[in-house]
Amino acid sequence: MSVTSSAAPFADWMGDVQRRVEAALAHHLPSANGIPQRLHEAMRYAALGGGKRVRPLLAFAAGELSGATAENLDVIACAVELIHAYSLVHDDLPCMDDDVLRRGRPTCHVEYDEATALLVGDSLQTLAFELLAGADLGEPARQLEMIALLAHASGSRGMAGGQAIDLAAAGKALEQPELELMHALKTGALIRAAVLLGAQAGAPLTSERRGQLDRFAKRAGLLFQVVDDILDCTASTATLGKTAGKDEAAEKPTYVALLGLDTARAYAEELHAEALAALAVFGDRAARLCQLTDFICHRRF
Ligand code: IPE
Ligand code: IPE
Ligand code: MG
Ligand code: MG
Ligand code: MG
Repeated sequence: MSVTSSAAPFADWMGDVQRRVEAALAHHLPSANGIPQRLHEAMRYAALGGGKRVRPLLAFAAGELSGATAENLDVIACAVELIHAYSLVHDDLPCMDDDVLRRGRPTCHVEYDEATALLVGDSLQTLAFELLAGADLGEPARQLEMIALLAHASGSRGMAGGQAIDLAAAGKALEQPELELMHALKTGALIRAAVLLGAQAGAPLTSERRGQLDRFAKRAGLLFQVVDDILDCTASTATLGKTAGKDEAAEKPTYVALLGLDTARAYAEELHAEALAALAVFGDRAARLCQLTDFICHRRF
């Protein structure tokens, strides 16, 4: 079941999914009135009221390939977005990127304090798994596989591992294969999980289609971070809602640092084309995923 008619304009569909996910997150996050109130308030601060919700959008768009229900997709979208929100809270800490602005507001540790921000990350992460394990997503064995997939994508062989490589690489020049691995892990793994879980929430795909979807997800994940690198040095702080120019200031290895701006842009277009090519096998059912890939490539923030 799609959230809006498949003929609706992309912007309407995107707004619809974003509102759905905001409401579902608001429902699942602990009330700010419940003890410990400050931690719960900070969790809501970090997860609600901002962000493009790209990972939920990817889950919903991928769900159209397999006829997943909007109710199942709500759970998956929330779980992935909670992990993402946790990763941002920790990414902004002084011991990591030391950022003061996120989604147009003070970062969680600035608004609250560092210890609270640490616990917000811990708690958002575990809430994601509580949701995924507690929902009825159909066949239990398949649900367990989905939980394992998200755990793998979040941990030391996924997002957290990519963050470790990112921190160790500051001030160093990485070769393209190393940079690609870092991006594939720190950002790509969770994007891939959003896509695969969205599709897994519906009817099983053939192995050929699963392979093509995985290929798409990997290209889209890398594309997302290449564009993030480009925006860091081309967009303003006001537009991004986070401090621009941080990568160069912190001497982070990025695609712009490695290739220069023009070649990084050309590489993004290449990844965009490869991602779309991988979706060809799905025909019209992939229309939303194609539109979303265009958005990821050409976004301004
Ligand atoms: C920012 O992600 C961090 C990266 C993984 C590059 P987003 O650009 O998706 O951030 P929000 O959720 O829209 O704020
Ligand atoms: C962050 O990458 C990736 C994760 C949060 C896992 P960045 O450090 O480039 O993200 P921004 O630019 O601060 O959003
Ligand atoms: Mg970072
Ligand atoms: Mg950062
Ligand atoms: Mg960045």
